[in-house]
Amino acid sequence: MLKLIGVEAFYGKIKALHGVSLEVPHGKLVCILGANGAGKTTILKTVSGILEPETGTIHFDQQRIDGMDPEDIVGLGVGHVPENRHIFPELTVYENLIMGGFLINDKAILEERLESAYHRFPVLQDRSRQLAGTLSGGEQQMLAISRALMLQPKLLLLDEPSLGLSPLLVQEIFDTIEELHRSGVTILLVEQNINQALRIADYGYVLTSGKIFLSGTYEELRREEKVREMYLGEGKYVRRARLWGM
Ligand SMILES: Nc1ncnc2c1ncn2[C@@H]1O[C@H](COP(=O)(O)OP(=O)(O)O)[C@@H](O)[C@H]1O
Ligand SMILES: [Mg+2]
Repeated sequence: MLKLIGVEAFYGKIKALHGVSLEVPHGKLVCILGANGAGKTTILKTVSGILEPETGTIHFDQQRIDGMDPEDIVGLGVGHVPENRHIFPELTVYENLIMGGFLINDKAILEERLESAYHRFPVLQDRSRQLAGTLSGGEQQMLAISRALMLQPKLLLLDEPSLGLSPLLVQEIFDTIEELHRSGVTILLVEQNINQALRIADYGYVLTSGKIFLSGTYEELRREEKVREMYLGEGKYVRRARLWGM
């Protein structure tokens, strides 16, 4: 469904992605793992068209999408829940959701999607007239996910949805992601919460300094000594890994 081949991306002269190739098959939940600054967010930005790759190709549903406008990519069925939520703080919860449904012309469908958002997270219905900026971090994350779901994307990009949330809310967000996955949504999830993410993912890629360093299933990655040491805190080289900035 989604395929990146040899993607290189820059911020000015700084190269953030060094030839990233990865695949998200239809109906699967794939996660990208890696420390701060590895390039995880940059990968999602190239997929949703916010950042154009310098070289390489990105295909979605047989169609080449690199170089396309973000709005057109959304229209093809790619939903992006950005890092740090990026909800519209000065708009109400209801208005944020309506903004998410900007491509829907049919009022009945819009109502239906709103209902399903409120059904998924009842707290959003309770707070529908409240300014989104006044919501808690967890509620803002629920809103950001719900806003992206308004267009019923075929592929959902999730950028560190559990960041900064209490353990209880982290669990709720992961439960939601699993539920979406079961309902057939294809998901590309970026996480630093490695254990949790790999448990629900079909496949994982480990990114270091803009390069895919390892990939595999949870079981395969768990067997990799480097992953255990660096990400699962099980080895004697944790300190060294920190020195490497991983
Ligand atoms: N807007 C930007 N301008 C310049 N450099 C950036 C920008 N955004 C990210 N970078 C750099 O690109 C690299 C990858 O960043 P990012 O994709 O945000 O990593 P991650 O999401 O894995 O933490 C980092 O070195 C970061 O400093
Ligand atoms: Mg990031």
